[in-house]
Amino acid sequence: MNEPLQVTVQLGPRSYDIRVGEGLLSSCGSAVAGLGNISRVILVTNPTVDALYGDTVRESLEAAPGIESPVATVEIADGEEHKTLATVEGIYDRVLELGGDRNAVVIALGGGVVGDVAGFAAATVLRGLRVVMLPTTLLAQVDSSVGGKTGVNRPQGKNLVGAFHQPSLVLADTACLSTLSGREYSAGLAEVVKHGVVADAELLELLEQKTDAVLARDPAVMSSIVARNCAIKADVVSRDETENGLRRILNFGHTVGHALERLTDYKRYVHGEAVSIGMVAAARVSLQQGACDAAFVERLESLLDSLGLPTSLPAGLDREAVAGAVMHDKKASGDGVVFILTEGAGSCRQQLLDPADIAAAMGDSAAGV
Ligand code: NAD
Ligand code: GLY
Repeated sequence: MNEPLQVTVQLGPRSYDIRVGEGLLSSCGSAVAGLGNISRVILVTNPTVDALYGDTVRESLEAAPGIESPVATVEIADGEEHKTLATVEGIYDRVLELGGDRNAVVIALGGGVVGDVAGFAAATVLRGLRVVMLPTTLLAQVDSSVGGKTGVNRPQGKNLVGAFHQPSLVLADTACLSTLSGREYSAGLAEVVKHGVVADAELLELLEQKTDAVLARDPAVMSSIVARNCAIKADVVSRDETENGLRRILNFGHTVGHALERLTDYKRYVHGEAVSIGMVAAARVSLQQGACDAAFVERLESLLDSLGLPTSLPAGLDREAVAGAVMHDKKASGDGVVFILTEGAGSCRQQLLDPADIAAAMGDSAAGV
């Protein structure tokens, strides 16, 4: 096993490390114990991930000095539809039944759903417990486990209830990528492309040049890509933790992506697929606003396509409905939506737009799907 790569999110006394490498789950116990002063750990996961990695994590935790055995496991149901307050309440109840106190540590083992739900439970139960992220999907490793956004969905839209609660540690074991379905793996690549578009032109080139190695999940290539993405996110979060300005760039493709997820009842697309379609739509809006050229829209579409991602709105989707759903986005106000426009590889800007303009530009991508 190569030495893990390390990135630090610089947030003063709340700074934390992200370690990236193959096999990190089997040594997670000593890393978690290193946080110190732990009364108990509560492992939150879902049945799919538990079956794959639960025992490895429990064995390592239980062998570590300072962590009591057996480790309590709380399983939540698998799927975006379970990213709800009811699921969070189930975690509250288990933590309280177990007699958890302020020195308990929540460990989130799974993808973005487990991380967001367990993170929100940790943020709020007993007025806040430490949380350690053990992200097992590519999307969670490159994006959701870093930066402290936690929360749940409401019928009115995605992630509308939540809290900023930074983890104490993130361990991204890239060996977990080998068991992901092709669909979930590609979905994670959408967030990698997003980081390239908004902040890292070289990352986009790397994805274009090494598409085969990326699709083959080459361990060395993927460890370095995951760490590079964590570094991009760590830099943005360090400069704007609670999204008052700069951090909004990480929402590129998400305004339309979230609307699409909601309009299709979270069933038709996984998050990264909706973001992929949303990024192409956002690039078209950018073209219409004069921020990028047509060649960049084509380049983005072609890269996403080569990574196995959808790029077009579903045929028959009512554009007025998209405009309406866009107004439910957290970033919307009475004046419009703060939209992230791409200016080409590695550069973007924010602009207040009327949802009708967004829907109109998207029409160009709706044909022939
Ligand atoms: P997910 O958590 O639903 O995981 C996808 C599927 O993969 C699930 O069925 C899961 O059980 C399974 N799985 C997880 N790890 C596996 C592995 N190693 N091998 C095999 N199967 C595995 O989906 P996701 O794409 O990881 O996360 C999407 C969620 O993340 C959305 O709710 C989105 O809103 C959220 N998100 C949050 C942030 C943030 O900053 N907090 C950022 C981006 C996305
Ligand atoms: N995924 C966007 C953010 O964390 O800000």
